[in-house]
Amino acid sequence: MYLGLDLGTSGVKALLIDDEQRIVGSANGSLEVSRPHSGWSEQDPAHWIRATEEAISALKAAHPAELSAVKGVGLSGQMHGATLIDATGAVLRPCILWNDTRSYREAAALDADPRFRDITGNIVFPGFTAPKLAWVKANEPDVFAKVAKVLLPKDYLRLWLTGEAISEMSDSAGTAWLDVANRKWSSDLLAATDLDESHMPALVEGTEVGGTLRAELASAWGISGTVVVAGGAGDNAASACGMGTVKPGSAFVSLGTSGVLFASNAAYLPNASSAVHTFCHALPGTWHQMGVILSATDSLNWLSRITGKKAADLTQPLGDTLRAPTGVTFLPYLSGERTPHNDALIRGVFSGLEQETGATEMTQAVLEGVAFAFRDSLEALRVAGTELSRVTAIGGGSRSHYWLKVIATALGIPVDIPADGDFGAAFGAARLGLIAAIGADPLTVCTPPATDLTIEPDSALRPAFEDAYERYRSLYPAIKAA
Ligand code: XUL
Repeated sequence: MYLGLDLGTSGVKALLIDDEQRIVGSANGSLEVSRPHSGWSEQDPAHWIRATEEAISALKAAHPAELSAVKGVGLSGQMHGATLIDATGAVLRPCILWNDTRSYREAAALDADPRFRDITGNIVFPGFTAPKLAWVKANEPDVFAKVAKVLLPKDYLRLWLTGEAISEMSDSAGTAWLDVANRKWSSDLLAATDLDESHMPALVEGTEVGGTLRAELASAWGISGTVVVAGGAGDNAASACGMGTVKPGSAFVSLGTSGVLFASNAAYLPNASSAVHTFCHALPGTWHQMGVILSATDSLNWLSRITGKKAADLTQPLGDTLRAPTGVTFLPYLSGERTPHNDALIRGVFSGLEQETGATEMTQAVLEGVAFAFRDSLEALRVAGTELSRVTAIGGGSRSHYWLKVIATALGIPVDIPADGDFGAAFGAARLGLIAAIGADPLTVCTPPATDLTIEPDSALRPAFEDAYERYRSLYPAIKAA
């Protein structure tokens, strides 16, 4: 048995698989995000532990024998968060999350130092970890002075699980301190934020062993032997392991809180100026690129919050047949945007509203706006040398086939829907736990699921979608701060 733990933004998922990679069971613990000021997004790391305990006890209640047979654990998590630990291992302040943009000034200052793009292959986005530390140094100097370790969210969970400060390449590539081509910390980049390697966890590959489960937890979970904890991965690379997106050219579109268009690469292919992220993959010697949009299902959740209607009730009146865009345009920049704009200050837009516009037209525009944001990422990947011929859909939003039709038509490529199953980040993490525990070949473990259904672009509506995309593109210059 192998356990995958995915520390997401809205909850922790624990998923058990057997030796044949069959899913035995899963359970969740829920999390909330605190937004004390505009652009801020924080979580208390103690809540991650509480949510993990909640998920594990539910799993234990349902599958006690299976949980007690676990040999390997794999970790996945929301990326980029800055969890600050003092010399005693205590947490110094709430974790500053991936979608927190308060450090945009510090990010721009670091990004202006050419070493960052040269060594990391990426823009220093405000959501990345290094600028957050620069913000803490400037605004909370007493906290900064006490920082002994900076850990990514899932690696804080590992500290609790194993007692060890360890990270792996895929998540660490999102800190802006990793030499992404050479898969090691850059002492120059750390020094640029007044830190050094002693502040960083040790590095392993995602498929390697990254600690063992503390005896106290093992016995609480009913386990007697040693349990290996794999390096694991950031949630996007972990999802890629779950989806079998590990071979060059394979790709997925993820409709989660954030939206990700992810492509696997055999080589390190940076192109920071297109605002594409180029990170290490979880498998040794491989990399990936991705375009990241900050508010995907979060855009629909926002509309649901302000209308008081559930997301499913908002999308239901759209029916099953794809509609032509109505002239209402939505820009999903509720928390600013990464790809392609790297702009923390822009905010969302509805344009083209008229007397006849109702909740259904606005919902349609939200689904289209998110799809056009993915189209921007597709174009950015193109500029970075990666041409996609099809993508597989994952994430909570992919349950809406209407949304996938919009995406296929906006991207102009087929979208594959995997056969029923749970191939997300927790499954990918469990696979990494299996690989690390038994030394299995990653490529034979990380295979893609069967495709259940392929959604083709709607050729009759392509021209209308191209016009709507042009309208969408033309709005950004109008709202960009001078
Ligand atoms: C990726 C990113 C998000 C988070 C969401 O760069 O910031 O996809 O990993 O959990």
